Amino acid sequence: MTGATTAHWLAEIEIADIVLVDIIEGMPQGKALDLQEAMPVIGKDVTITGSNEYSATTNSDIVVITAGLPRKPGMSRDDLLAANVEIVSTATQAAIRESPDAIFVVLSNPLDVMSYLVMKVGGIPSRRVIGQAGILDSARMRAFVGMELGISIENIHCYVLGGHGDEMVPLTHYSNVAGIPLDEILPKERLDAIVTRTRKGGGEIVSLLKTGSAYYAPAIAVTQMVEAILKDKHLIVPASAYLSGEYGLNNIFFGVPVQIGMKGVEKIIEYSLSDEEKEALKKSAAGVTENIALLKK
Ligand code: LAC
Repeated sequence: MTGATTAHWLAEIEIADIVLVDIIEGMPQGKALDLQEAMPVIGKDVTITGSNEYSATTNSDIVVITAGLPRKPGMSRDDLLAANVEIVSTATQAAIRESPDAIFVVLSNPLDVMSYLVMKVGGIPSRRVIGQAGILDSARMRAFVGMELGISIENIHCYVLGGHGDEMVPLTHYSNVAGIPLDEILPKERLDAIVTRTRKGGGEIVSLLKTGSAYYAPAIAVTQMVEAILKDKHLIVPASAYLSGEYGLNNIFFGVPVQIGMKGVEKIIEYSLSDEEKEALKKSAAGVTENIALLKK
């Protein structure tokens, strides 16, 4: 669902021609044709094709990897690791053969570990692999703050860093409403409730849908990244990037503020954080590192 929904959002902004690839015969073709048939109504000249073969993707500028199983109720993202390693490896190897210069945007879970895997199995320079979770997690936090305060979502800016799991780190001081830090606007107990709901935001949707995980918000988050890359916007977003010493971390994909453009990751921005925030990031990173180590087994 996330792949097709990303195609839907991308087609609406007329930013690229799109190829949907899936192993299920007929499914990507059917979804692509359905979307193509929607284009006359919105007047967008975008070509959308579906295929079971990666040869249809030759010379893509961007490859979005959404392949893999989603969660079922009661599962953590980490429970998907074993199943998704093979699926994501196969997809990456096939895609990079066709598009050796592409930038890879990864959405499969567990997100940070899968981003690391894509870089490794694809032999892709780290700046060309970006995992998407931070825009999504921050958007969830923004939505919850908006519900709480009844203020336009346009005034609400939130920053969620760390691994895309229950230990993610919503920053309550950098997050703000029209420039006013969130921890100065909301009473502690309301803020804590929003932090907890944000951390469990993915699970909340899984427990409602029962058959899979969220796709509208994850897909629009990917769309924002694809647009920033294609337009070379130098946009700063929270996303999972490969760290070599930033935030005191090494050899890990982890959610941090990154500047993205045509070349992929241009810069990693280092916030100065409180001791409490540093500690929380360390805890989150330990979980991701543990799972990355499982890849090597
Ligand atoms: C989520 C899943 C897709 O957070 O990771 O909704």
